[in-house]
Amino acid sequence: MPEFSNPFQGNKCERKLDKNELLRAVRFSLASELEAIQLYEQLKESIENADCKKILDEIADDEKVHAGNFIYLIEHLSEHEKEHYDEGREEAREILQDDD
Ligand SMILES: [Fe+2]
Repeated sequence: MPEFSNPFQGNKCERKLDKNELLRAVRFSLASELEAIQLYEQLKESIENADCKKILDEIADDEKVHAGNFIYLIEHLSEHEKEHYDEGREEAREILQDDD
């Protein structure tokens, strides 16, 4: 359920965020999108109503697009974060290639 545990709790910040604070806020937003995906997919798998399942599936896909938006922003705002993500992707790719 919504926790609203972000630093603003429904109110805007009294001042503008600096770059690092903005990056953390975007990471928090990404986590919220991932949490929403989890919620909608769990709910979809727990019900039988076909109309609700269809809508939940659509909404979960929308949240995945939003997650992609935030990942892009994180990589755009951070000078080095994309390098770490790319390193992780390559590392995983190598691990899976070793299994082949
Ligand atoms: Fe969203």
